[in-house]
Amino acid sequence: MELKDRLAAAGQEHLLAWWNELNETEQAELTAQLEEIDFAELEKLIREYVLVKPKTAIPDDLGPAPYFPLIPKDDAQEELYEKARSWGEELLKAGKVSCLTVAGGQGTRLGFDGPKGTYPIGPVTGRTLFQYFAEGIMRAGKKYGRPITWYVMTSLLNREATEKFFKENNFFGLDPLQVFFFTQGTMPAVGYDGKLLMASKSSLSLSPNGHGGTLLALRKSGALDRMKAEGVEHISYFQVDNPLIPVVNPLFIGLHALENSQMSAIMLAKTGPFEKLGNFCVTNGHIEIIEYSDLPKELAESRNEDGSLRFIAGSPAIHVISRAFVEELTAGGSLKLPWHRADKKIPFIDAQGNAVSPAEPNGVKLESFIFDAMPLAERTMILEGDRNAMFAPTKNPTGVDSVESCRAMLVERDAKYLEAAGVKIPRKADGTVDALIELAPVNVIDLADAKAYVEKTGLKAITAGAKVHLE
Ligand code: UTP
Repeated sequence: MELKDRLAAAGQEHLLAWWNELNETEQAELTAQLEEIDFAELEKLIREYVLVKPKTAIPDDLGPAPYFPLIPKDDAQEELYEKARSWGEELLKAGKVSCLTVAGGQGTRLGFDGPKGTYPIGPVTGRTLFQYFAEGIMRAGKKYGRPITWYVMTSLLNREATEKFFKENNFFGLDPLQVFFFTQGTMPAVGYDGKLLMASKSSLSLSPNGHGGTLLALRKSGALDRMKAEGVEHISYFQVDNPLIPVVNPLFIGLHALENSQMSAIMLAKTGPFEKLGNFCVTNGHIEIIEYSDLPKELAESRNEDGSLRFIAGSPAIHVISRAFVEELTAGGSLKLPWHRADKKIPFIDAQGNAVSPAEPNGVKLESFIFDAMPLAERTMILEGDRNAMFAPTKNPTGVDSVESCRAMLVERDAKYLEAAGVKIPRKADGTVDALIELAPVNVIDLADAKAYVEKTGLKAITAGAKVHLE
């Protein structure tokens, strides 16, 4: 069927309203965008997710997911953790691990102009998010004697700017061949009336298809092939907004491997029943992550006999994923994950051709989430993490999960390393650090590194009120 007829059949013929005004290049661009879309499938999605607000079904048997606790519960578990830690280190030494950062999001909440990874988060130097990871990856490569390949997922919207930033910064000292950029898919934004929105007369309003898009993009980009060729078996997955993350976590990687897990997750004990983290649950023997907004209040608030939250396990989006699992999931060149609806203010071109920036949400963006791959795995593993050592998301400029809170956590983490290495740290009456401290991840990614650094430099104390970058 002709494109025009297909659009008419799908009730989307308005997309060609300015066709005759477009030059040839513009016409080709619009045609390419439209040809990418499976309109029959999209129509179904619009009916299911846009014209009605989908409700996540909560299974009757929903219970909290089991997990390995932060502190081993007995000697046997302690031994297992020791073994896992060493096994994780062995895997790193054998070059079996790659890092993957998802950086395709639009970062609208942060309101920063540019790819989020280029945000200057370092409390003293303004080190960017990308630089934190790059230095950490460089240090881990040296520590374990094998350079680690870093997969960076971008979207069509920020790929160019991201690559440019890496080039301008000399890949932060990494070998450029060590960094593999790949691009996730997009989804067209849909107005509340079910009509696709246009960003200009010659372009749909397209947005990244969610971090669930990572899995298929890994295949389509050739990243999986490269991993296989390099003998990589496990992927250390983290988000671009979390500079506190240890880029590789030997205990987590080792436990994932020892448990034969296909997809593993770090869980954090939630700070309260309604903290905005996905909830690790179990239903019918399978892990399922229920979004905070979907977990019924009675369940969110339910408590164990000792007063602790029953659904305590929140997801900070930190995973280890087996390459073989991603290969299996995407074998046919497609992957069906559930979609999630996000109501957004989406700029668009109205019927008269005027650009409109709506003040209220006017449509829906559809995204898939990586954690929805967990229920598809036969074997999963969840490990409790220490929030202060691995999770400082930079979502907003101020307040909760913000630039401010992230910087404070980075300072606190570095101060703790130094304290444990015998350095005197000034603290205020409320216990917070009375200085701005920034360790360079290229030297220090764990306590052992911090101790070596302190020994080498002879650092004894940090002066109250100081602002120090320890290189
Ligand atoms: P968020 O859910 O925080 O979304 O992404 P966002 O787009 O970055 O920010 P807001 O909601 O517009 O403020 C969590 C992580 O997933 C990545 C982001 O880059 C971030 O690392 N992500 C998100 C993608 O890589 N692709 C997507 O389509 C969405």
